[in-house]
Amino acid sequence: MSFLGERATLPNPELDANLDANLASYELQDWRKGYDSLRTEHDYWIDEIIGEIPAELSGTLFRNGPGLLEIGGQPVHHPFDGDGMICAFSFGEGRAHFRNRFVRTQAFLEEEAAGKILYRGVFGTAKPGGWLANAFDLRLKNIANTNVLYWGDKLLALWEAAEPHRLDPATLETLGLDYLDGVISPGGAFAAHPRIDPACELDDGAPCLVNFSLKAGLSTTITIYEFAPSGQILRQHAHSVPGFAFMHDFAITPNYCIFFQAPMSFNPLPFLMGFKGAGQCLQPRLSQPTQVIVIPRNGGKAQQIPVESGFVFHHANAFEQDGLLYVDSVCYGGFPSIDAGEDYREVRFERLDPGQLWRFKLNLATPSAERELLESRCCEFPVLHPDYVGRPYRYVYLGAADRPTGNAPLQGVVKLDLQTGERQLWSAAPRGFAGEPIFVPRPGSDAEDDGWLLLLIFNAELERSELVILNAQDLSEPLAKLRLKHHVPYGLHGSFTPERFGVE
Ligand code: CO
Repeated sequence: MSFLGERATLPNPELDANLDANLASYELQDWRKGYDSLRTEHDYWIDEIIGEIPAELSGTLFRNGPGLLEIGGQPVHHPFDGDGMICAFSFGEGRAHFRNRFVRTQAFLEEEAAGKILYRGVFGTAKPGGWLANAFDLRLKNIANTNVLYWGDKLLALWEAAEPHRLDPATLETLGLDYLDGVISPGGAFAAHPRIDPACELDDGAPCLVNFSLKAGLSTTITIYEFAPSGQILRQHAHSVPGFAFMHDFAITPNYCIFFQAPMSFNPLPFLMGFKGAGQCLQPRLSQPTQVIVIPRNGGKAQQIPVESGFVFHHANAFEQDGLLYVDSVCYGGFPSIDAGEDYREVRFERLDPGQLWRFKLNLATPSAERELLESRCCEFPVLHPDYVGRPYRYVYLGAADRPTGNAPLQGVVKLDLQTGERQLWSAAPRGFAGEPIFVPRPGSDAEDDGWLLLLIFNAELERSELVILNAQDLSEPLAKLRLKHHVPYGLHGSFTPERFGVE
């Protein structure tokens, strides 16, 4: 299996027809319907349930993702530019309640009042009026659409390039920007991928939340933040690394924070001139290595180790064992971007590099790196049992394509046993489309895979979404499918808290 992969090939209608007829496990028009906006805000008990909700499943699943994919009849250029909408599923006593609400960011309210796009999107959405209307408008729209997390008695909607928005966890009402009790300043950033260390050695075994912010330029400043369960800041330190960096996620171990800096350059000219969004001005330089940046959590000096080139959005996990550092990450051969003239709804999946799960074995002493392919099936959004974050672990779950080879939309979930190499796949193909699974441990159990996977599926046949509950030990048949009264556009990330919000 080639990591750098076969590059995108020239158009070949015959090949395309073959792929469509014989290989595709889905219809593009089905997939596309999952990117229609959801304009209505709902609040109801889910009453269409196939199977049974486990009685022990108690707590709230929060999910975030773009809910509004067009404004005033103008579609956004990339779903990453869509306004954040939060969904909350509250579970308890075998029942489930659903609620969704948009994050009422300043830009959302302004654009809603104006009935048109007023801000440029990072991923290419432009204001009406062509490049002249967009040139030199460098205002960023904080769209709060990437993740949502309950920590320190606050529910926070996250978007990596700006401040978090605080929400009421019961009603999902937007309370405003949150500066984390003064840890970040107005205009500051806070990444959308916090990691929770389940038992922090620096805090006598208490859990702590680790996150970062980036300030990218000719060199990049990475600031690490660690917070107590109360929300209070425990540690904060900044590190400068050479070169431009676009890093969406990181991984932690008890002693380290680990980042993958892909070889990218940033040419801001087309952005300044109004031709492109800032995110479209990133150019991969695949002839150069990716730098793994290892930052000690105690604030010590950062170290860099080159590995083969590739692009990582998400890391599954990292751990320390026998003096080595292991990092498991979903890697792409190239940087997936949507150019100015293209429509993401017409994407040819089979022409893009699939995400695949790789293991990197790093020796900080030499320093050197080796890598090994763990899963070649196209996959994304890796998750695991929360008690194993940063520790040696056995099971990882990922959103996965239905077919074992090639690039395709996610249609199910794959469970990988890293000890035996055994795999289980549950797929909603041909008419179901998946995203990030969330693992919820069964209360009182200490088996690593004893729990449930919660997976939101877009059912194109019904044009509605359903929350699928799978037994994480045996994915063969869902325990329950909770049918919503409407669809939910494909989301990004979410989290589960054992606290039950939004129901009396
Ligand atoms: Co992400």
